[in-house]
Amino acid sequence: MRRREFIIKTAMAGAFLAMPKFNSKMFANKQSWNNPLRFPPVLNSGQSLVLDYANVEIWPGTTTNVLTLNGSYPGPTVKLKRGDTFSVEFKNQLSEESTIHWHGLLVPELMDGQPKDAIPPGGSYVYSFPVIQRSGTFFYHSHAHHLTAKQVYLGHAGFIIIEDEDDYGLPKGEFDIPLLIQDRHSVYQPNITYAPTNMDIMRGYLGDIPLINGTPDAYLDVSKTLYRFRIVNGSNARIYNLGFSDNSDFWIIGTDGGLKDEAVKVNSVFISPGERLEILMDFSGYTVGDSVFFESKAFNGTATQGEQMNLLKINITGNQSSGAAVPQNLPAIDYYDINAKTGSRTFTLSQGMMSQNGIHRINGLSYQLNRIDEEIPFGKLEEWTFVNNTMNYHPMHVHGVLFQVFSRNGNTNLHPKDKGWKDTVLVNPNETVKVLVKFTDYPGIYLLHCHNLEHEDNGMMLNIKINLPTDVNTDDKISNIFNLEQNYPNPFNPETKIKFTIPENGNVKLTVYNSLGEHVKTLINGYLIKGNHEIFFDGSGLAAGIYLYRLETNKGTLTKKMQLMK
Ligand code: C2O
Ligand code: CU
Ligand code: CU
Repeated sequence: MRRREFIIKTAMAGAFLAMPKFNSKMFANKQSWNNPLRFPPVLNSGQSLVLDYANVEIWPGTTTNVLTLNGSYPGPTVKLKRGDTFSVEFKNQLSEESTIHWHGLLVPELMDGQPKDAIPPGGSYVYSFPVIQRSGTFFYHSHAHHLTAKQVYLGHAGFIIIEDEDDYGLPKGEFDIPLLIQDRHSVYQPNITYAPTNMDIMRGYLGDIPLINGTPDAYLDVSKTLYRFRIVNGSNARIYNLGFSDNSDFWIIGTDGGLKDEAVKVNSVFISPGERLEILMDFSGYTVGDSVFFESKAFNGTATQGEQMNLLKINITGNQSSGAAVPQNLPAIDYYDINAKTGSRTFTLSQGMMSQNGIHRINGLSYQLNRIDEEIPFGKLEEWTFVNNTMNYHPMHVHGVLFQVFSRNGNTNLHPKDKGWKDTVLVNPNETVKVLVKFTDYPGIYLLHCHNLEHEDNGMMLNIKINLPTDVNTDDKISNIFNLEQNYPNPFNPETKIKFTIPENGNVKLTVYNSLGEHVKTLINGYLIKGNHEIFFDGSGLAAGIYLYRLETNKGTLTKKMQLMK
């Protein structure tokens, strides 16, 4: 029999009460849905991000002391374009260590904000990396050792949006809405308090009220037209079964790593912590004056998960048009062929007895900062199997790569949210999930962990090391990493990636010239961290022919040729 109890904390008695599983409708009369949905400010490259506590007006008429970046919760939205180099100085004003992890972004090891690379109290660090991947919705958050769950819960999280020239006619501007979903405890309102019990560490710290972009009881006024929603589950542990209260259909157009290859119509979709989804919703069939809730639908979950929860009230108030349509064609995705795999690994997830420390494990191992747990060859396709024999959800996340889901309990007929580029995959209780993984961008140490943040801090995390193999000639992409300044592919049309290594931190300039020596484009002009970098060059609009690219550092100048074919 499934236990259907839910444990809530009573602030007054400091005791526990066992009662029927929480139902958000019990609080419905307390909820006003009167607060306009907030949007964080935008952060530009070159600015700094200062992490500190500040008083923010979350509930109207009162303030809440939360963790902010530049005084904002959620943190400022980082907007990037493919081919840009992003730099930000992170200043940690806390009395404990912290980091910024750029979840879903393919960045060099030392830019990944891992627990081993923590920024000490009062310290600062320049995160700087080229944007080498497709457009999509990502997010940043703390990844401090044993402090991730607390710091994220208290506010250290923000959106990252990578944009592309080609937007496939999707809704833009005021019709393109980011939604960061986080659940918090009403018993502490107006405070946000991180105080997990042993049971919470086992199941994840779950709240009963949703904050959307830091807004409780949030509403959004929309027009009778097509909208794009970029959804981030930034909750510590809660799974949402997203949909609309009138059961309307909507289209899934994007997963963790960017756009899908088709828009797929559904009326509900699960999102677990760490995952992102992009959807299109058409409000044109409503009448001005109507309202509908964006909600988490009830589902047959675990002891503590699965209750219905209203998330955002949507009021249809206008007749403007976004001018957008559900796209017929989205960019193709190359699906990996499982027969091309060169290796397999299994990760078995376990939860031990409540009385012990570090009860969460992967393959029997509890995370240690300096232990390498898996060595993985760069550039080789592998099949990874996540085995969940526990009673709880484990959204499994991998750094440094985007992967593809292959099967769930042997079934390769996947839900549309599993088809596309992923960095986090929900592994349900008693489920075995296979994914296909290939590291093609950076060697080095990355992480594999459960994105239930209580589980992660409690040890459900491994260090994985991506190794450059010695047979470098087997793969052009690999040999590129060894050489200063090469581009791949070459010849190219219209895009290529220029890869280079710099031996120390400093100012770097990377410029493209045509064969007459005339300036075409400055790709980088700024401060970079030592190590491997790569930058994307788009030759569309340029004539076919030979181009030169020149790297200038304080160590000297190097020039190479590349060929644009049309
Ligand atoms: Cu969003 Cu390693 O985490
Ligand atoms: Cu990550
Ligand atoms: Cu977990």
